[in-house]
Amino acid sequence: MTTSASTATTTTASAGATGSPGMGAGAPLPAGGAAPVSGAASTVGGAAGVAGASVVTAAPASGAALSMAGRGGDTPAAEGHQYAPQWLELRESADAAARATDLLDPLRIRLANLPRRATGLVVHDLGCGTGSMGRWLAPRLDGAQQWVLHDQDPALLRLAIERAPRAGADGSPVTVTTRRGDIGRLTADDLSGASLVTASALLDVLTREEIDTLAGACADAGVPALLTLSVVGRADLVPAHPMDQEIAEAFNAHQRASELLGPDAITVACEAFAQRGATVRVHPSPWQLDDRHIALTEEWLRGWVGAACEQRPELTERAEAYLRDRLAACAAGELRVTLHHSDLLALPRPTGCTS
Ligand SMILES: C[S@@+](CC[C@H](N)C(=O)[O-])C[C@H]1O[C@@H](n2cnc3c(N)ncnc32)[C@H](O)[C@@H]1O
Repeated sequence: MTTSASTATTTTASAGATGSPGMGAGAPLPAGGAAPVSGAASTVGGAAGVAGASVVTAAPASGAALSMAGRGGDTPAAEGHQYAPQWLELRESADAAARATDLLDPLRIRLANLPRRATGLVVHDLGCGTGSMGRWLAPRLDGAQQWVLHDQDPALLRLAIERAPRAGADGSPVTVTTRRGDIGRLTADDLSGASLVTASALLDVLTREEIDTLAGACADAGVPALLTLSVVGRADLVPAHPMDQEIAEAFNAHQRASELLGPDAITVACEAFAQRGATVRVHPSPWQLDDRHIALTEEWLRGWVGAACEQRPELTERAEAYLRDRLAACAAGELRVTLHHSDLLALPRPTGCTS
């Protein structure tokens, strides 16, 4: 990553560092409760006055709806965070359950064929947030690992260090360093010596140019990439509601209204890697939300409906009633949501894209 001298920081934690991996451990939480970018939330059509049913803007939708707040959009971030750590914590267990384990075996085979190095694997996690990808993947890979965590948010990087994984699958040590900087400027030099590039819930908040830059850096450095949990623009809610499709379409339109790729990211990334000769595999990685995920589902619903109303304000009155119904069903444990994502594995070799 081309981290300029003014923004680049490197912090190191080694196995046994203070803090423990996992959600919420010692997290300095921004004021304002659990709502992501809570200081920035506003209501649309607030006249409804029904507690819990107002349509909140700038809340998350699987990471992607935060893009308006997180990328210089019209909403300031709370407490200096562009992505609230509470939101990342709320989604961590659903993310962990969703990531496509089918992509791990081809990845392990590729990593096993790398020339052995005394330092072990070097894994770069792009847009690491609080480091959930490392907590998921490091214990699934054998051997010593050095994780290099990249993010633009120094507060999230601090949390990622505190919660760093300690050991690989076979008990080998895991060490972690951080780099603050802009992924949009990543170069092959930044990946020098890397064994693997990872990311989670990142691609859909990048632009076409940023994804192209990322794919180019990986290809030039000859590094495989495992890029998980990109939204694909589909949500299935059970029981169904007549407004589901309308809200989904307005939400997707909201994402596409910015230059960020949202539901188109996975296709663009697949093409960008394949054009550079990588073998690309795409695998579904849906969130399966039910009565075990009420808080997450509620936050997701508020963000999903809020973004839809921002895009189509004429929906607001009906959307408030819709949200009220959906939140009530959710609180009663009677709502199930499948939020579709895709994971992508790109292995640098000269073949095309398959899915
Ligand atoms: C939706 S969050 C996902 C965080 C984490 N990977 C996870 O799965 O919990 C996106 C993360 O990417 C970071 N990010 C987004 N765009 C970035 C950029 N251009 N450069 C550096 N970091 C970026 C954000 O700060 C945020 O931590």
